[in-house]
Amino acid sequence: MAEFYKNLYDKLKDYSETDSYPFHMPGHKRNTDLLGVSFPFDIDITEIDGFDNLHSAEGILKNAADKARKVFHSEHSYMLINGSTCGILAAIRSVTEYGDDIIIARNCHKSVYNGCLLNNLNMHFIYPPQDDKSGVSGSIAIDNVREAIENCMTAKAVVITSPTYEGVISDIKSIADIAHSYGIPLIVDNAHGAHQIFFGLNEGEPIQGGADIVISSLHKTLPSLTQTAVAHVNGNLVDSRRFERELSIFETSSPSYILMSSIDTCFDFLENSGKLFEEYRKNLHKFSESIKYLKHLTVLCHGSDDISEHKFYSFDTGKIVICTSGTNLSGVELMKLLRDKYGLELEMAYPFYAVAMTSVCDKREGFVRLSKALIEIDESILFSGNTVPVLPIPKPEKSGLSLAKASDKNLIVNDDKISRGYIFAYPPGIPIVIPGEIIDDEILMYIEVLKASGVNVIR
Ligand SMILES: Cc1ncc(COP(=O)(O)O)c(C=O)c1O
Repeated sequence: MAEFYKNLYDKLKDYSETDSYPFHMPGHKRNTDLLGVSFPFDIDITEIDGFDNLHSAEGILKNAADKARKVFHSEHSYMLINGSTCGILAAIRSVTEYGDDIIIARNCHKSVYNGCLLNNLNMHFIYPPQDDKSGVSGSIAIDNVREAIENCMTAKAVVITSPTYEGVISDIKSIADIAHSYGIPLIVDNAHGAHQIFFGLNEGEPIQGGADIVISSLHKTLPSLTQTAVAHVNGNLVDSRRFERELSIFETSSPSYILMSSIDTCFDFLENSGKLFEEYRKNLHKFSESIKYLKHLTVLCHGSDDISEHKFYSFDTGKIVICTSGTNLSGVELMKLLRDKYGLELEMAYPFYAVAMTSVCDKREGFVRLSKALIEIDESILFSGNTVPVLPIPKPEKSGLSLAKASDKNLIVNDDKISRGYIFAYPPGIPIVIPGEIIDDEILMYIEVLKASGVNVIR
């Protein structure tokens, strides 16, 4: 029976002393030996004299933002302590007025939809192609961006996610060039890509690629505490002052100095992290070599799998996406097996794959444990010989009710197929259905398959 705890701190402390290895966020991997710091109460203050003010930074907090500009090569950078979520909300509000048109990739995180909801925006979708081999969403096609803009020249922004939760990167430079040729800014939800330039993932790097607003969660892929993120504003299509005003609406007026010092320390770390990222790349390479001869499981863009087999412009190999298609194991079962038998805790699982998140703070020991576990599991599982067709991601029809209208609980609608809320698997928090879309049989079946395989579906 699970142990009962009266206090969260006690439970966290006990868990921290177990042998469980974290292949999940936060990116610091609780590796205090490497980072040499821990963050206790004695530095938890508020905006007392000499400690600046996040919402009007002039002193030590401005210095931290300046470091971000330098390490990320950005014109304007902002520390975020309410996650990428607050940066995404501010980004959308800073380029749109109430009732405007906006183009968004359909595989965006729910924070993007919430940003659209706040300004009652008319959303025009770009659907990423689905990768045949793995079922994950592929890179955004350039032609689809052009087509979406030509069909909606009044759009005030294009919003896409790159890298995705599964590590798929889009060609930001080409997408930015197209959007800019129509005078439209590009917002990139880079929540999973704060490490991109340091890791050497220059293809599709959004700041160099010309994206106008880039929002990156530091806590996901870099050594920084949960909730910490950074936003960058570049070019002249977005008014950075307006972005700042919007940010002050969505960010707490009592920003945690512990979180802000974690961000500042992360920027310092990045200034001198070349060797550590080199070591990280080497560890990933060794991992990749060690799983080259898996017979049944496939690890995306690792081992014997190659990017040319996928609909990906580029891929973040820091994401270890283990595909179970064609075997007698679902992604969720694989995740459970890795937890129960091998003490490896992964980030998320779907019916046909599971995702291990890695970072520059991972230890060689972690990669060795994961590869040994995968080799052993691969030998013990059954393979049907047929590659199971991937589960198609449904494209729900629109009802004609806007996101904002359908979310209005006071509105009476006599059609129970029209969704009044979001339905999404968490993680990754990408809506399967949004308010105003039709829940048809295909969607019900998709949700059933997710639930039957143990995925947590929230509605
Ligand atoms: C693609 C994507 N965008 C945005 C977010 C929100 O980021 P945060 O948790 O830092 O607010 C997430 C969170 O998982 C995400 O996966």
